[in-house]
Amino acid sequence: MDEDTPHADGGTERADGPTADVALDPWGSASVGDYAELFAEFGIEAFDDVVDEVTDPHYLMRRGVIFGHREYDAVAEAMANDEPFAALSGFMPTGDPHIGHKLVFDELIWHQRQGGDVFGLIADLEAHSARGMSWDEIDEHARNYLLSLLALGFDPETGELYRQSDNRAVQDLGFELGSKANFSEFEAIYGFDGETNISHMQSVITQTADILYPQLVDEPKPTVIPVGPDQDPHVRLTRDLATRVRYFKVTEAFASFELDDDERRLVRAAYDALAADGPDCENAAEWLAAYEPPDRDEQDADLAAAKTTALEKLRAGGKEPLRPRVRFLDRNATDEAFEALIAAVDGDKRVFDGHIDAFEMSRGDAEALAREVEIDHGGFGFRQPSSIYHRFMTGLTGGKMSSSVPASHISLLDDPEDGYEKVKAATTGGRDTAEKQRELGGEADECPVYELYAYLLAGDDDDLTKTVYSECVNGERLCGGCKEQAAELMREFLEEHQEKRAEAEALLADLDIDLDSDRRGTGGEH
Ligand code: TRP
Ligand code: SF4
Repeated sequence: MDEDTPHADGGTERADGPTADVALDPWGSASVGDYAELFAEFGIEAFDDVVDEVTDPHYLMRRGVIFGHREYDAVAEAMANDEPFAALSGFMPTGDPHIGHKLVFDELIWHQRQGGDVFGLIADLEAHSARGMSWDEIDEHARNYLLSLLALGFDPETGELYRQSDNRAVQDLGFELGSKANFSEFEAIYGFDGETNISHMQSVITQTADILYPQLVDEPKPTVIPVGPDQDPHVRLTRDLATRVRYFKVTEAFASFELDDDERRLVRAAYDALAADGPDCENAAEWLAAYEPPDRDEQDADLAAAKTTALEKLRAGGKEPLRPRVRFLDRNATDEAFEALIAAVDGDKRVFDGHIDAFEMSRGDAEALAREVEIDHGGFGFRQPSSIYHRFMTGLTGGKMSSSVPASHISLLDDPEDGYEKVKAATTGGRDTAEKQRELGGEADECPVYELYAYLLAGDDDDLTKTVYSECVNGERLCGGCKEQAAELMREFLEEHQEKRAEAEALLADLDIDLDSDRRGTGGEH
């Protein structure tokens, strides 16, 4: 989409963006050349791997528009089991909402209809500090975002809408989280430097608070953040901070020493093989030395390294018995919380200086107990937030969709006739002549008009997208007619959407959200 709107692709200038080389830059030009690279480079997982766990997936999920995720399985599972879950996303009010934002609006609304607690926020602090938007402009744009979100079906009775600057709980949470983050980290993640304005940094910490806010309201729960991949740095930072503020860390161990995940897998294999004989560390070392882990292709090297270190630890353990246990490590707990946890652990346990070993508890029970004690003693008990990532739409004129190029995008406020014309004028994946098109077929995969069908115009109707696609690539469909059909659908969509926006005015007026702020100031750089 563009440089000054959320989840945006493209961009020209930036406020005080990175000088360092950050690959995913929330305020820069977020052109993602190769989505697959994001999986390898940042550990974003393919949405394909989780889509089967989703009950009745949204069309954006079915069509691969939502292509990646972090830990969405936790949300899918809660959804399937009728357990609490939440979704939250935010919008920077720097311009008109457009068809790219509609993807996120739809994702929020879908999660709401699936039974989630859903939050939509206006990132006014970010717009002011990182984009230099005036408060008046922010008020106006915020109103437009909210009207479209409501018009598309967001239910403000069960969900919550807020402005960052008006949410005191978010501000307080940000302050708390900020005490676990430092400048070096912001430098590494965002490329911030000595020139970055402080309020921009405050808006970042506010975003981490936004992301955890659904867990503050009520109770910790799986929460999904639907965004474009340019926002992943914020998600990663927040997942870290969510862990750093926890009182306890729960791990699994077999003796007094700590193990990493690979080492643990090996020691568990040793334990399982020897359990009946009441093994000690030396016995396990002997067994492990002769053990060849089953083939795990690319992980082989890691596992070989883990074998070496696991052997060292076991040998140093000598005659200490090998006994599986869950371990509660004290991270930030108050003394009272630590004492309370000791008292609450059932069954055989051993208490050490900074940790407790429990011999008769499952990992899951231990996690739940740690969270409960933490919450009872003034902690947050956060879960790490999940995320889903959607592809950026191609501009109607080819290349990036950018709000500084009006012909490249369609605003949700565009006159329906203009919307119609923009689609008619769009670049296509068609051939030079009708004959060639009939002979070779069109290139639907390279076609912005096909994208319009798949991302928006076809709605839930998979048959329509499939028909357009196959007719196109088989050469049965010519671009003129295809665009006419799309342009008419766009006009209808905009007409209907704008009627619903008018109806949503009353709904918005009833909400407790100040869109006429009397704030003063000039904001950050442009
Ligand atoms: N930074 C986001 C953007 O550029 C806006 C935002 C603020 C946000 N808080 C959020 C997005 C929380 C998702 C979740 O658009
Ligand atoms: Fe695109 Fe339609 Fe032309 Fe195919 S026929 S290239 S989908 S405009």
